[in-house]
Amino acid sequence: MGDSKFTKTIACIGAGYVGGPTMAMIALKCPQYKVVVVDINAERIDAWNSEKLPIYEPGLYETVAQARGRNLFFSTDVEQAIFESEIIFVSVNTPTKTFGQGAGKAADLQYWEKTARNIVKIAKTDKIIVEKSTLPVRTAQAMDRILNANDNGVHFEVLSNPEFLAEGTAIADLEKPDRVLVGSQTTELGLKARDELVQVYANWVDKERILTTNVWSAELSKLVANAFLAQRISSINSISALCEKTEADVTEVSRAIGMDTRIGSRFLNSSVGFGGSCFKKDILNLVYIADSYGLHEVARYWEGVVNMNEYQKCRFVDNMIKVMFNTVADKRIALFGFAFKADTGDTRESPSIDVARQLIEEHAGVVITDPQAIENAKTDLADCLGSVEFARDPYEAAKGAHAIAIMTEWDEYRKLDYEKIISQMERPAFLFDGRNILDHKKLFELGFNVFPLGQPSLKHYE
Ligand SMILES: NC(=O)c1ccc[n+]([C@@H]2O[C@H](COP(=O)([O-])OP(=O)(O)OC[C@H]3O[C@@H](n4cnc5c(N)ncnc54)[C@H](O)[C@@H]3O)[C@@H](O)[C@H]2O)c1
Repeated sequence: MGDSKFTKTIACIGAGYVGGPTMAMIALKCPQYKVVVVDINAERIDAWNSEKLPIYEPGLYETVAQARGRNLFFSTDVEQAIFESEIIFVSVNTPTKTFGQGAGKAADLQYWEKTARNIVKIAKTDKIIVEKSTLPVRTAQAMDRILNANDNGVHFEVLSNPEFLAEGTAIADLEKPDRVLVGSQTTELGLKARDELVQVYANWVDKERILTTNVWSAELSKLVANAFLAQRISSINSISALCEKTEADVTEVSRAIGMDTRIGSRFLNSSVGFGGSCFKKDILNLVYIADSYGLHEVARYWEGVVNMNEYQKCRFVDNMIKVMFNTVADKRIALFGFAFKADTGDTRESPSIDVARQLIEEHAGVVITDPQAIENAKTDLADCLGSVEFARDPYEAAKGAHAIAIMTEWDEYRKLDYEKIISQMERPAFLFDGRNILDHKKLFELGFNVFPLGQPSLKHYE
């Protein structure tokens, strides 16, 4: 099977934010394997084969460049990849369903199921099918039934191997993961497939960090990990609102509680809200699953995490309007950052989208700047391009602005010359720090009226 110079052929269906980087890392670390990444989106595949990759991640280009053409291949030939590989990762998208039963909450599994049916149609030899996409608990059972309902004697073993990489640090996370999780059936074939996948990762990951569980635990753990991470953000954001009423400072509260080793200090920065393609989708999926098992209290508990996030975004805009004398109509407002977090160009579910839209509705003149996400921002706001400007240069964006809102924690925003910036702004000049990354006292001294999150504001007027 496959090219004889390789000991194994691995395919990945879905060349997105997960499929591309994960397979690039496997190819880099395992030159003895042939790794083929396929997608139905030809434009995306062309980009993976070019100098300008379809996604931005620090270190990604270097990783791809080392392995591409050697043992890493990007192609649109899904059939050939299925045919020639022993292990098939499936990393297609699993968005929230927008129609029918479970609309707005349940995961839309149509891409996964179509892929499974395609695999059955083409495969002539036994294969290990790896769930890389985030899927509802017990999906592997449905997949097993679809895959193994064939009469050509081919056996498929379904494993769950959820991906825990974080965008912005994907390459570092893949190179040195906190853990790799492999869930399998406990049958003889299940354990054999599990060991084969463990062997792939063992090429560069310490054995102690490769965790094996039953397949349902692996599926559920991914949803739970994202729910816990998002819950921490919503928890500290809820406290930021309380801090603003009580003159407590959320950064001091975070430090004080984070020094408790039981709590830990990471993921305790308040912000304008979490974004990204996964947190909201995965929590809503968890909510849907809990409800479908009749566990309504469990569902409502987790739903609160999403509700708090929506509240934080609205609160941010409400506060902007209130302090800018109850109107932002015809005022130029520069949004610094559109990506949902720093070091990525990804804008999926970015809080900037909601904030921009609410400001546009208030007839503000919104101008968006971002080092990596302008193209995606244009797509996100395609229906209101007449009401929004884009400027790659933050100094340009801020020229003539009444206010700046820091939306993404890009390091470069910490280093800007705010004296130059304020000299070209309207007065009074407002700065809303939606990430609490700037030196507020210094900005105040330069003349800004500064509104951090969960900290006392610094104003030049009463
Ligand atoms: N983005 C993240 O940080 C992240 C992290 C962990 C897990 N995940 C999960 O991984 C999965 C993929 O996420 P992503 O961000 O990479 O999505 P993505 O939308 O960037 O990529 C998915 C790709 O699958 C392709 N695709 C869809 N159907 C196909 C088919 N039938 N045949 C071939 N290709 C097909 C699409 O064209 C697309 O390029 C999701 O389940 C997500 O929840 C994402």
